[in-house]
Amino acid sequence: MATDTDPDTQLIENYQPFFREDLLKDKVALITGGATGIGFTIAEVFMRHGCDTIIASRKIEKLQKAAKALEAGTGRKCLTVVMDVRKPQEVIQGVEKMMSEFGKIDILVNNAAGNFLCPASSLSFNAFKTVIEIDTMGTFNVTKAVYDKAMQEKGGVIINISATLHYKGTALQTHAASAKAAIDAMTKVMAVEWGPQGIRINCIAPGPIDNTEGVRRLAGPLKDKVNGVIPLRRMGSREEIGNCALYLASGASSYVTGSVIVTDGGHWLNDPRASSKL
Ligand code: NAP
Ligand code: COA
Repeated sequence: MATDTDPDTQLIENYQPFFREDLLKDKVALITGGATGIGFTIAEVFMRHGCDTIIASRKIEKLQKAAKALEAGTGRKCLTVVMDVRKPQEVIQGVEKMMSEFGKIDILVNNAAGNFLCPASSLSFNAFKTVIEIDTMGTFNVTKAVYDKAMQEKGGVIINISATLHYKGTALQTHAASAKAAIDAMTKVMAVEWGPQGIRINCIAPGPIDNTEGVRRLAGPLKDKVNGVIPLRRMGSREEIGNCALYLASGASSYVTGSVIVTDGGHWLNDPRASSKL
């Protein structure tokens, strides 16, 4: 079989499962932004554990290529749905299509996002709005549609993908830090409101994850410098985020809700000036 050289749709080499391989057997998961990067690998890890998936984003070509790779690599089904998470009507129609195909959505991963480096002084009104609309409103729009049409009656698991940018004043990230802070807040409120209905909702806050668009955009050529300020001395892998999502999606985390699991090798905690004296 020809090797795929596109980093976005690279399957994990020699995946070593930590959990039972039927952990998500016959579950259905929707992963927004699942055609690339972290979302693609979350879909792959879920599918390797018996789950069927739906990947949803804006570009049909990327979705179809990813679904083909995921199905070939795992033997499970992957449905593609074109939708812009900013547009509630598209999201509602997309979720209706998913429900008519599978009859349920057990797991939702809100992974779609947009980001770039820009100081607040240069950020246009529309640039700030765009990131808030994709990350924060997109997370709300998809969550609300999935709640209304799938989880309200039957319960489910929601995993939001956040970040650690807003724990400190990360320069050049006014837009993304604000967007992700709102996602953390949404997670906590919804965990309280929907817990009685059997819905668990948590966040993963990744640090710099290698082989992703996020790192290409935000760290770029500074990759070696970034590794040096991470206590574990390396960036995370997409597989490590996939495994964290698997834990949160499964019964292994059945009493965990409203939490943010920081998955960053200790990155945000580190004060490089202090630790350089070690
Ligand atoms: P990525 O590959 O660029 O993933 C983002 C995905 O979102 C793309 O597949 C994109 O597909 C989709 N998307 C963007 N706008 C959309 C819209 N309006 N509607 C629907 N889909 C949309 O980036 P990544 O680095 O893997 O990041 C994945 C997640 O991890 C993001 O939430 C990011 O904030 C978070 N994160 C990443 C890192 C990191 O180191 N990479 C660190 C912290 C947090 P289309 O463009 O085809 O629509
Ligand atoms: N720096 C400053 N402003 C920027 C920018 C950058 N690098 N990139 C885009 N913008 C501004 C645009 O100029 C525009 O503002 P304006 O109308 O005032 O000029 C606004 O943001 C919207 O840009 P546009 O390109 O029309 O938005 P889009 O909806 O087509 O795309 C983005 C959204 C900008 C977030 C795009 O980068 C994207 O689609 N990203 C998805 C993938 C991604 O970001 N992955 C990393 C996830 S961590």
